[in-house]
Amino acid sequence: MKKWKIALLGLGTVGSGVVTILQTHGERIRKQSGAELEVVGALVRNPAKPRKVQIGRDVLTTDIQTIWEREPDIVIDVMGGLDPTLGYIEEAISRKCHVVSANKEMLAAYGPHLHRLADEQNVSLLYEASVGGGIPILNALSQLLHANRITHVYGILNGTTNYILTKMEEENLAYEEVLARAQELGFAEADPTADVEGYDAFNKIRIIGHLCFGGKTQPLASEREGIISVTSEEIELYGKLGYRVKLLAVAERQGNSYSLRVGPTLVPHSHQLAGVKDEYNAVFVTGDIVGDLLFTGKGAGALPTGSAVVEDVLQVVSGRTFALEQEEVGTQTVVHEEAEASG
Ligand code: NDP
Ligand code: HSE
Repeated sequence: MKKWKIALLGLGTVGSGVVTILQTHGERIRKQSGAELEVVGALVRNPAKPRKVQIGRDVLTTDIQTIWEREPDIVIDVMGGLDPTLGYIEEAISRKCHVVSANKEMLAAYGPHLHRLADEQNVSLLYEASVGGGIPILNALSQLLHANRITHVYGILNGTTNYILTKMEEENLAYEEVLARAQELGFAEADPTADVEGYDAFNKIRIIGHLCFGGKTQPLASEREGIISVTSEEIELYGKLGYRVKLLAVAERQGNSYSLRVGPTLVPHSHQLAGVKDEYNAVFVTGDIVGDLLFTGKGAGALPTGSAVVEDVLQVVSGRTFALEQEEVGTQTVVHEEAEASG
């Protein structure tokens, strides 16, 4: 049985979820994949901090060199942020490690650049956990819908804001109180501004845009607004008028290009998205052959996100990978600026 050495960058909410799954489902994973997965290192800031999982103290390190010395086959980025994470991922790829990441901020900005590096080194770069938590939406878009021309993708892509909007409406709780709860539950980003101002949902729809419309093409237009200006009074009033406020993210083909937008939207009670509550996400995908598809599930939290990470690891182990873009839209291909700057 082949042994795969795994290094985790980060052992917080998602990292702990990954280790829990490897522990609780180790036997099943071995049987299904024919592979033995061993966590040889976990990079953290503070090794003395109490952890949610049992892990040997010798596995933890604050030094990235220690991670490289352990010669991992797969590096899992569950650390977040751009600096120093991007440099670590570039280094991992240059060392011919396969990479699995949950880091939407990095992938939205540098996905095309990292794909280029991964292709050059002939290693996998997978990031299902970066969009929609446990929902296998990126795999569906990249593996299962090749004949379809995707025209729209839209839905709820941020668990924290959906949780906040749900609790403000159903339990009449104050915004600050529910945000604090979402943080305790591990749904929110390290800086929750990313959630409530719509940056996180925007990063996710941008990743979807790369997959559906091409990583080298810039969107024709993009808009982002969060939920910070939405008040309890408005939620109550719209409720009486038959609507729920939801933070929707939309990617839409527009002629030779596409547009991206994120913003609070009034959804009629009769619409399926109105019934999507708490940290659940839901994504409608419209293909020109298949019509509308709806994907839904838990969009944040340790186990749903850990599930997406572990499934990606098993894809690596089984030798499968996904291409960045379904197709390039448009005739004018604009090279991704941030990716170029870093490359
Ligand atoms: P946490 O803040 O819970 O965990 C981050 C981990 O990374 C911690 O273990 C921390 O160490 C470590 N870390 C952070 N910066 C450094 C650094 N500079 N050097 C070494 N270690 C570092 O984050 P999450 O687990 O919630 O999120 C991780 C990633 O997953 C992010 O990219 C996030 O966007 C993404 N994600 C999160 C989801 C969720 O539901 N939480 C869902 C989907 C994606 P220490 O523990 O010592 O502080
Ligand atoms: N903060 C993110 C959310 C985590 O609430 O959706 C999942 O990507």
